[in-house]
Amino acid sequence: MFYETEKNDHGLPHNPFKAIVSPRPIGWISSLDNEGRTNLAPYSFFNSVSDKPPIVMFSSSGFKDSAANVEQTGEFVCNMASWDLRNEMNVSSASVDSEVCEFELSGLEMAPSRLVKVPRVAKAVTALECKYLQTLRMKDLNGHDTDSYVVFGQVVGIHIDDSIIVDGRVDVTLYKPLSRLGYMEYAAVTEVFEMTRPKT
Ligand SMILES: Cc1cc2nc3c(=O)[nH]c(=O)nc-3n(C[C@H](O)[C@H](O)[C@H](O)COP(=O)(O)O)c2cc1C
Repeated sequence: MFYETEKNDHGLPHNPFKAIVSPRPIGWISSLDNEGRTNLAPYSFFNSVSDKPPIVMFSSSGFKDSAANVEQTGEFVCNMASWDLRNEMNVSSASVDSEVCEFELSGLEMAPSRLVKVPRVAKAVTALECKYLQTLRMKDLNGHDTDSYVVFGQVVGIHIDDSIIVDGRVDVTLYKPLSRLGYMEYAAVTEVFEMTRPKT
């Protein structure tokens, strides 16, 4: 089948776009507002875009609290969601008032970060401490502003739980990073394979 996104004429009960661009890692963004209140929310329009220097992005569909906080304070932590924390991650996505602390809501303990004031999820086996770089409000093909705000941050510090390091490498099968697929579907990485790049 083929369909044009403008016409959205796929004829399927649900839009397949997010199921096709999958899996997407889930950046679980913790931030602080101007008054020092903590905020935590998952973002699957999330990825790294550079490794020298390490830069990550998340995209806010509508200008949500996380984007506002990061712009105000210049910092965030990207706690990576993994299989063991799937329920807490889900609970923290509830649309609640900005005064509500999603750490408390989802029964998660905070741990201090080293280089930013924003706390991290204590149980997250990896977490990226980030400093804000810029926000890009996406435009569409007609040059009109969309409601997607892409927030970029440079990773300045990385936490890795020793339990997932085996022979000097992060063992992804122990880490079990969670990813978002389409619909209400998720996946966790439990199997890996290796390929070496061709020599030129
Ligand atoms: C797995 C998952 C992924 C999500 N990804 C996004 C995303 O990429 N962009 C977005 O705007 N909302 C996303 N959401 C919804 C937000 O987490 C939700 O709107 C949350 O309340 C936003 O919180 P905030 O206003 O404190 O930033 C996602 C929710 C879940 C459960």
